[in-house]
Amino acid sequence: MEKIKVYGRQKVNGSVQISGAKNAALPLFAATLLSDNGMCLKNVPPLADIETMTELLEKLGVVCISKQNSIYDGIVKFKTDEISSFTAPYEVVKKMRASILVLGPLLARFGRCKVSLPGGCAIGVRPIDLHLKGLEALGAKVELKDGYVHASAIDGLKGATFEFPIVTVTGTENILMAATLADGSTILKNAAREPEIVDLANCLNAMGARISGQGTSTITIEGVTSLHYAEYSILPDRIEAGTYAIAAGITRGKVDLLGGNFRELLPTFIEKMEETGMKFTDIENGLRVESCGEIVPTNISTEPFPGFPTDLQAQSMALLAVANGESEICENIWENRFMHVAEFMRMGANITINGSYAHIVGVPTLKGAPVMATDLRASFGLVLAALAAEGDTVIDRVYHLDRGYCCVTEKFAGCGVVVERF
Ligand code: EPU
Repeated sequence: MEKIKVYGRQKVNGSVQISGAKNAALPLFAATLLSDNGMCLKNVPPLADIETMTELLEKLGVVCISKQNSIYDGIVKFKTDEISSFTAPYEVVKKMRASILVLGPLLARFGRCKVSLPGGCAIGVRPIDLHLKGLEALGAKVELKDGYVHASAIDGLKGATFEFPIVTVTGTENILMAATLADGSTILKNAAREPEIVDLANCLNAMGARISGQGTSTITIEGVTSLHYAEYSILPDRIEAGTYAIAAGITRGKVDLLGGNFRELLPTFIEKMEETGMKFTDIENGLRVESCGEIVPTNISTEPFPGFPTDLQAQSMALLAVANGESEICENIWENRFMHVAEFMRMGANITINGSYAHIVGVPTLKGAPVMATDLRASFGLVLAALAAEGDTVIDRVYHLDRGYCCVTEKFAGCGVVVERF
C-alpha cells in the first residue's frame, strides 16, 4: 500500500494549476446516460473516483474513450447508443457512493434500473431516501430488495413539484437529471445551490435540456423528449483550490491558484481565511493567496453553499491547530466527520470533540508522526499539518487521497515543496 512522506517546516511558494472538479465531473459522467447521441467532456481530472465512474458506465454499455491533455486533465468521449445493462452492481457502488448518480438518468431514459444501496461510509450514515422520494414524486415505482434499489417508470416520468426537506447535493443532481426527460415541468424547491449543480444544469442545457434557476434554491425543468450531443468543459475544483490556499496559510507562504474564478466559488471560505490572516488578491486567471504571518484563530460552521464547505473542514482544522489561540468548528453536514482529530492529536494538536463541535486550542508547533488517512479530505488535512510540523510525517492509506486529488507531488513541486510517495 502506498504511503506519502512529508518533510516538515516547508514553505509553499509558487503556483498551482487547479484541475477539473471531481464533484462536478461525477454527475456529468452520469448525465451522458441521458442521451443516445454521445458526449465529450473536457478538463476531466485524472482521479481514482473518475476511473470508478468510468468502470461503472462501461458495465452499463457506454464506450468511454479517454485522451490525456496534460498531466492534470483529460478529454473523454462517450458513446451511449448501446446501453446493455441497467444495473449498478454492489462491487462498484461500494467503492464510490456517487455511483447512485446513474439512478436518475437510467430511469429517465429507459424507464427502469437497479442500483445497489451504497451502505455506510467513514463520514456518516449517508442515506439516499431523498433521491428515492424525489423520483417517486416524478411517478417512479421504487422497491428495496436484496440490497438493491429497483426503480421503474413504465410509462415514463411525469413532471411534478418536489421540495427537499434538507439540502442534498447528489439528491438534487439525480432528480434534476431525471426531470430533463420527464413529461411536463418539474419544480425543485430547497434545491442545492452548489456550483457543481450549476455546472450540471449548464451542461444539460448545452445538450438541449430546458433548465432555469440553477444556483438558486428553486430549479425549474421543462421536460424534453431527447437530448443531443454536446461538448462541455468541467468547472475547476473549488475544494482543491481551497486546500492549496490553506497550504500557503499554514506554511506562511504564498500560492497563485490558477484556472478559475475562485473568489466566486469560495465566498465564505475566503471570508474565514481572511479572518485567520490570509490575504487574497485577484490575478489574471486566478487568485493569489498570501499568509500575513500570524495565524489568527476563528470559528467555522459548515453549511451548504454558499456557506463554508464541509469538504474543507479537515484542512481548515489543520490550520487552526497551529493558530495563536482558541477556535471552534461546528460540522453541520456529516455526523462523523471528525475522524482526523485523533490523527492530528498524534501530531501534538490540542482538540476536544463535543458532538458536532470541535474545540481547538492552537499549539505553537505540531510534530511529525506516522499517521493514517481516514477519508479523502482528512488525508490532505494530514499533509497540510505535516508541512508545518517539526520533523517528518509518513501518511498511510494514501488511496483515500487519490480519490479526489491528482498529481499532488507535481503540484507541490510547482510551489517548491517536496512530498514523496513510496
Ligand atoms: N441526506 C439524507 N438523505 C438523502 C441525501 C442526503 O438524509 O437522501 C443527508 C446526508 O446524510 C447529509 C446531508 O443530507 O447529512 C447532505 O448530504 P448530501 O446529499 O448533500 O451529500 P452528497 O450529495 O452525498 C456531496 C459531495 C460530498 C460533500 C457533500 C456536501 C459529491 C459526489 N459528493 O455528497 O463530497 O461532502 O455533497 O457538500 O458531490 C468529498 O468530495 O469529499 C465529499 C464527501
